[in-house]
Amino acid sequence: MRKYFIAGNWKMHKTASEAVALASELVKELKDGPHKYMIAPSFTALDAVSKVVKGTNILLGAQNMSTDEQGAHTGEVSVLQLKDLGVQVVILGHSERRHTYKEDDAMINKKVKLALSHGLEVILCVGELLEEREAGKAEKVCEEQTRKGLAGVSADDLKKVTIAYEPVWAIGTGKTATPEDADAIHKFTRGIIADMYGKAAADAMVIQYGGSMKADNAQALLAKENIDGGLIGGAALKADTFKPIALCK
Ligand code: 13P
Repeated sequence: MRKYFIAGNWKMHKTASEAVALASELVKELKDGPHKYMIAPSFTALDAVSKVVKGTNILLGAQNMSTDEQGAHTGEVSVLQLKDLGVQVVILGHSERRHTYKEDDAMINKKVKLALSHGLEVILCVGELLEEREAGKAEKVCEEQTRKGLAGVSADDLKKVTIAYEPVWAIGTGKTATPEDADAIHKFTRGIIADMYGKAAADAMVIQYGGSMKADNAQALLAKENIDGGLIGGAALKADTFKPIALCK
């Protein structure tokens, strides 16, 4: 049985003190929660939030990471620096990184392998643009991003990978994929994992949904066979809106 993984991606929101306040509330609210949890504040809040979530059932995530361990990379943040702050999970290949900051699959794959080689868990995001969906290319895009993102990742390291299906047209727009449409892509993506790593690995792979997931649609999405959690943006920014998703049955 796969365990739900409910994760909050706080994106570029909250100062360190605001992040500490929200993390402190979540530690209290989710302490008996039945699922796996993660919150990913901005880099600037990681140190402070790390102290709040340390030893709790909430993992500390980062939203991105450099392709390199160290060196002349102005403005980047390295895996060594993240680990030093207690980061346990890193979100890679988010659509905002792919489309706004032009990260390609090769770059994302390099980051995935670097994070795994340092023992971090990875949430690898995949998902199609609206025009790709309308052109009937959603599966093709997700397949390519999955295969290229995971190229060279060992079966053993795959155990530390979660895939997040985030249709780009559903992110921050209030439009959610229907549970049926999302489940179809999740099932298809699980099939790609089966092809790459075998059925047991595919059955164990946690695939989150992300894109306008809220208290009122989370239950229906999570009820689907292939949807194993959520990567939540807007609704993760307040305890009141995150908690009902995080405690979904
Ligand atoms: P929203 O929940 O705000 O649509 O964001 C989803 C997302 O991009 C999480 O990574």
